[in-house]
Amino acid sequence: TSSPALVRAESLIRSIADYPQPGVLFRDITPLLADREALHATTEALVAPFLGSFDVVAGIEARGFILAGAAAIAAGSGFVPIRKAGKLPAPAASVDYALEYGTATIEMHDDLPAGSRILLIDDVLATGGTLAAGRRIVEELGYVVTGISVLFEIEALHGRDIVGDVHTVFRS
Ligand code: PRP
Repeated sequence: TSSPALVRAESLIRSIADYPQPGVLFRDITPLLADREALHATTEALVAPFLGSFDVVAGIEARGFILAGAAAIAAGSGFVPIRKAGKLPAPAASVDYALEYGTATIEMHDDLPAGSRILLIDDVLATGGTLAAGRRIVEELGYVVTGISVLFEIEALHGRDIVGDVHTVFRS
């Protein structure tokens, strides 16, 4: 977090107490997304360490889509969605993962050439369950995760312990 634009971007991440349930401090990135300079700077910061090392950006539904789409444009690459179960017309793989309460399932298509190098992007790293599942589904389909990049990391939840090497732009 060094450039004035990134300092400004960080100040536009809003914390909302007790959403979506009591006891949770929700990190709301919508003010950052609405700001031209902040969105541009954070998108650049997400992809900069990985330029030249991936073929496609994959984003995880739903908030991950926004940043992953922007990152794909910034990097001049394509975009692939990883969606919650039942949303894709031709899922080729499916991975279950644990949430704070209960479980969820993600799915992905297999339209890329075997061995495609993927940059995985999401908005927030909390417990790490979502990104660990994202890594697993990409690898299950025979692609290679060459980077994982996240806008905001909640360090106290130690998500990187299960996700592995993650680049994060902001953290708390
Ligand atoms: C949020 C967030 C990450 C995930 C992080 O998504 O966008 O994908 O949780 O949490 P974790 O590290 O503990 O897995 P959510 O499942 O709320 O879906 P949404 O983007 O559709 O709101």
